[in-house]
Amino acid sequence: MTDPLIVELRDVVKTYPGPPAVEALRGVSVSIAAGEHVAVVGRSGSGKSTLMAILGLLDRPSAGHYALAGVETSQMPDATRSSMRAAHLGFVFQSFHLLPDRDVVENIALGMLYGGCPADERRARAIDVCERVGLAHRASASVRHLSGGEQQRVAIARAIAGAPALLLADEPTGNLDPDNAEDVLALLDALRTDGTTLVVVTHDPEVARRADRRLRMTAGLIEDGEG
Ligand SMILES: Nc1ncnc2c1ncn2[C@@H]1O[C@H](COP(=O)(O)OP(=O)(O)O)[C@@H](O)[C@H]1O
Ligand SMILES: [Mg+2]
Repeated sequence: MTDPLIVELRDVVKTYPGPPAVEALRGVSVSIAAGEHVAVVGRSGSGKSTLMAILGLLDRPSAGHYALAGVETSQMPDATRSSMRAAHLGFVFQSFHLLPDRDVVENIALGMLYGGCPADERRARAIDVCERVGLAHRASASVRHLSGGEQQRVAIARAIAGAPALLLADEPTGNLDPDNAEDVLALLDALRTDGTTLVVVTHDPEVARRADRRLRMTAGLIEDGEG
């Protein structure tokens, strides 16, 4: 049996109204199976971040269809989209978007804020995930005292704390030196053991190489990679 699809995009168009109007996605169709690790590559301006915003339910297609975990989302009311986001999605960005004055566990627990999980359980799970990303010894450190690589590990921990079916990462190693990038990559690889689906935008050939599949974007269109 093949794995169920987590992502099904059909003929997705995204036009920014401007002026001048920009057609950032020009009819994108792609399916991603549960547990797949997919890299999205392509030149600056080719539509990668727009695609991620659509996948993350942060923005809506101007036309076309997006089914997330089998549920069609394009016509959903905003409130339903927000609860789907909390239930199914995790986000990691190039800049870490952490609260610098809060400690590691508090930052991780924030990832579960909108998932309906009680505060004490959020904290317990945050401590678990903190250990998983190798930061148990830094659990009560203020985030501003961590290295860049450690901060990205906190951001990943925050993103996976709610056990998302789909993790979206936009240039997660873009601001890291090679050693720290390697730690982050190992962590993303380790997500395979619990079946997390990963879509990662990257300019880093090593990140792309480790994915199961590469999608190349050119001027708002996707061409499927070599598998
Ligand atoms: N909010 C916006 N308003 C208008 N144009 C935008 C907006 N966001 C992105 N664009 C344009 O859409 C195209 C795709 O952008 P983007 O998805 O950010 O590409 P990438 O992430 O591959 O660099 C670019 O031409 C960009 O200038
Ligand atoms: Mg981008």
